[in-house]
Formats: sequence, structure tokens, C-alpha cells
Amino acid sequence: MTDSQQERTQSRKPRRILITGGAGFIGSNFVHHWCTNYEGDRVVVLDALTYAGNRQNLASLEGKANFRFVRGNICDRALIDSLLREEKIDTVAHLAAESHVDRSILGPDAFIQTNVVGTFTLLESFRHHWIEEKQPATYRFLHVSTDEVYGSLEPDDPPFRETTPYAPNSPYSASKAGSDHLARAYYHTYGLPTIITNCSNNYGPYHFPEKLIPLMCINILLGKPLPVYGDGQNIRDWLYVGDHCRALDTVLHRGRPGETYNIGGNNEVKNIDLVYRLCELMDELAPELPMRPSRQLITFVKDRPGHDRRYAIDATKMRQELGWTPQETLSSGLRKTIEWYLNNRNWWQPLLSQEYQTYYQKVYGQVEPVN
Ligand code: NAD
Ligand code: TYD
Repeated sequence: MTDSQQERTQSRKPRRILITGGAGFIGSNFVHHWCTNYEGDRVVVLDALTYAGNRQNLASLEGKANFRFVRGNICDRALIDSLLREEKIDTVAHLAAESHVDRSILGPDAFIQTNVVGTFTLLESFRHHWIEEKQPATYRFLHVSTDEVYGSLEPDDPPFRETTPYAPNSPYSASKAGSDHLARAYYHTYGLPTIITNCSNNYGPYHFPEKLIPLMCINILLGKPLPVYGDGQNIRDWLYVGDHCRALDTVLHRGRPGETYNIGGNNEVKNIDLVYRLCELMDELAPELPMRPSRQLITFVKDRPGHDRRYAIDATKMRQELGWTPQETLSSGLRKTIEWYLNNRNWWQPLLSQEYQTYYQKVYGQVEPVN
């Protein structure tokens, strides 16, 4: 903890925070971050435990006096109304979402339900709760979103700023854009103290196997092909999940209601170069591998429909207004992440379930290798 963080922790009034999606990837990292840094706070997690939610991620917190896990859906208005009232919630960190682009292409319905209708339901419930409590200025609704709402950049375009127009291209990003607009409208129309964050691609512990980095690490360990979409030249701006959690903490404590903050790692990398780096690190760190060097497993496959070419975040506002910068470099973050996957096979092995195999078959089964 930095000195300023320590000062803040000592002088602050304890919060009563509801974290939605707290059993997912970023959500569970954020729950651990919050419980470690603010032991006196009440932390309530609301999560539907979809395929992406895993209660095991929070196992070390179960039974703690200040922690409560509730299995439930963010579209369930009655449940949320009673939770907000009963727990006297003053802060919502909203991370529950359907989050995977490839799944949104296969079936967009759940994305509209959870991301749009679920966010609307939470906002409405929180608005009524805030009014009942006489509209305290200290209440916060943090809506956690993605850089994908800004669409795709050309190679020479400047990175996304908070003022970049929205241009979502996938059902996932369109549903997140819809939810961002609702969070914004609730501030402008009702004065509800909402704040929006738009973050670049995260990586780190507890990342579900379907996403690029864990998928490649796990497939290397299993000796399976490493499916790279299209020509592998698409660019993403990678941020270690712990840095994202510190950013969300900073925004909740010092961000201004009604504002949007872009969060990013300043780590633009082409997919194929990232996969090469993962292969090299895996060759170095994994004691046993079915195929070495593992880059022999790389297979170029048919491109994702509507695949955005490049994302990049300009995080100047976060740095200048709130003093946040990432602490992890891509090298240090990737190393930590790979070590975590090597040491936590018991976490990811059960996730390669029948549901996952069916999904995998749908996305990768019929695609022809093109190399
Ligand atoms: P995730 O898919 O790992 O986790 C989502 C969690 O939400 C799961 O625990 C799931 O059970 C829960 N959930 C889904 N539908 C629900 C519902 N209807 N009611 C209650 N809970 C429900 O997602 P993630 O990668 O941790 O992303 C968290 C948030 O951050 C999302 O809003 C996502 O859009 C955003 N985001 C993610 C990234 C990234 O790189 N992963 C980057 C920027 C922003
Ligand atoms: P992903 O982790 O799905 O995140 P997002 O689509 O939200 O950026 O994918 C990151 C990049 O990696 C994206 O350009 C798609 C690409 N990709 C592959 O090439 N192969 C894969 O198997 C996956 C899952 C992703």
C-alpha cells in the first residue's frame, strides 16, 4: 500500500459495498482487493454463478463476518431491492456481465438480458434506494465497462479517449454500450452518482479458460493446437487485473460522479506476438510439456466475424486527475499469470467441463486451419 492509500484507509468512513459479478474473473480479483484493503467494510457479492462464475474464487473469504455471498440474478428486481435495503448498501461496483465476444456471436440473447436489462434493473433499484435514504452525496454506482464500446482503431489512429464516439461492433460491445448509456443517463436525468470506467483487455489469475491468454496457456499444457484468428495482426492493449482493481478503487474513492474514466495498460501487442511470448514463457517455466518448443502448436484459423482490428486506451485522465498508473509491466504480469496457471491446475481443470467442450467445438470445431 502507498502512503496516500494508507492515509485514506485510516481516515475513511467504512463503506457497505455490493459487488455484482464478484465470482467472475475481474470481480473476484476486485473482491479480494477490497477485503484486503478495507477490512472494516461490509462486502456483499451478488452473482448468478453462470458458466463464468466460480464460488471457489472466493473460498478464502467464506465465513468472514463482514463478507456475504448471495447467489442471484441482477435482473431480479425484488432481490436487489431487498438486498440494498437490508444491507444498507451505499456503494455498488457493478461487474456482472456476459463478457465473451465469441459467445455473443453464437447467442446474443443473454448479453441483452444481463448487460442491458440487468444494468437497468440495478440502476432503477439503486435510484429508489438512494431516494429513500434522502440522496446521500457519498453514494456511488460504479459501472465497469470496456474499451470495446469505442469500436476498432486504424493503425495510425490515436488511442481511445473518454471523448471518442461510441461505435460498438459485436453484440457484446453493443450491449455494454447500451448499459453505459443508461448509467450516464441516470446521472444526467436523476442526479444518481454514477461513474463509468472503460478498460482495456485484462489478464491474470482466475481468468476463465475461453479467453485468449488462459486458453493459450492451457492448450500449451495439454499439447493442443493454439488457434490464432485470421492473420494474428489484431492488436489489444493488455492490463494486469490487479492494476485494474487498483484503478477501480481509485475511481470509487476519488472519481467524480457523472464522469467516465478510461483505464489501460499502455501495452499494445499484436495477438501473434503475444502468443509467441506466452510460448517462450511456458517453455521456460513449465517443467513438463507435451510439445516443446510450444510455438509448433500455433495454428492460424478462420477469423472471428466482425473482428475488431485494434484497441488502445489513452489513460491520461486517470493519471492526471486521479494519480493512477499501472504497476505491472507486460513481462512481469505475464510471468505471474503463467506461474498462477501452473500452480493452480485444480482451479482450471474442472472448468474444461462438458459445457466448455460443447462451446469449444462450436467455435473451433468446424474452423479449418489456414496454415
Ligand atoms: P466474467 O465473465 O469473468 O465474470 C462475469 C461474472 O458475472 C460471472 O461471475 C457471472 O456468474 C456473473 N453474471 C453473469 N450474468 C449475471 C447475472 N445476470 N446476474 C448476476 N451475475 C451474473 O467477466 P469479467 O472478465 O470478470 O468482466 C467483468 C466486467 O468487466 C464486465 O462488465 C466486463 O464487461 C468488464 N470488462 C472486462 C474486461 C476483460 O478483459 N475481461 C475488460 C474491460 C471490462
Ligand atoms: P479475447 O480474449 O476473446 O478478448 P476480446 O475479444 O474481448 O479482445 O481475445 C483477445 C484477442 O485474441 C482478440 O483479438 C481475439 C483473439 N483470439 C484468438 O486469436 N484466438 C482465440 O482462440 C481467442 C479466444 C481470441
